[in-house]
Amino acid sequence: MLRTYWLHYLVAAILAAAVLVAIRVHMASGQVRGEASVQIRSDAEEGLYYAEAWCTECHSVQPETAGTGKFAPDFTVIANRRSAHWLNIFLRSEHKIMPDFVFKTAEIDSIVSYIVSLKRR
Ligand code: HEC
Repeated sequence: MLRTYWLHYLVAAILAAAVLVAIRVHMASGQVRGEASVQIRSDAEEGLYYAEAWCTECHSVQPETAGTGKFAPDFTVIANRRSAHWLNIFLRSEHKIMPDFVFKTAEIDSIVSYIVSLKRR
């Protein structure tokens, strides 16, 4: 009699562990889905929106306005001399003249994909 009770506890414990693992796996896949949707929103269009809001004070950010930037290089010029990797590092670094923005990762991703989209094909 005592022996079978012990078995019930064991089975219950195993089931509980299985449920916990299932919840973890479910939540992990939810996180992956969440990131995927951020990726979809972080496109060049969103980057242009941020650039218009934050960068036009000093830079010309669109091909149509090239040459009208204040004292900072045009985004079209930057696009043709820098890689996405270089831009990623630059936007996360400290600068001497340019202000140090504190971006979210998704914001950097979209700004970089916008600048890269200006590369002459
Ligand atoms: C207050 C003026 C100012 C603002 C606002 C500004 N920048 Fe700049 N930026 C500069 C100056 C000046 C330089 C050139 C000197 C340097 O590299 O720090 C520069 C350089 C850069 C470079 C490197 C260019 C190269 O090829 O060396 C990138 C990329 C850049 N800016 C992106 C941005 C983005 C993206 C924004 C908006 C989120 C922004 N900047 C907002 C002034 C500004």
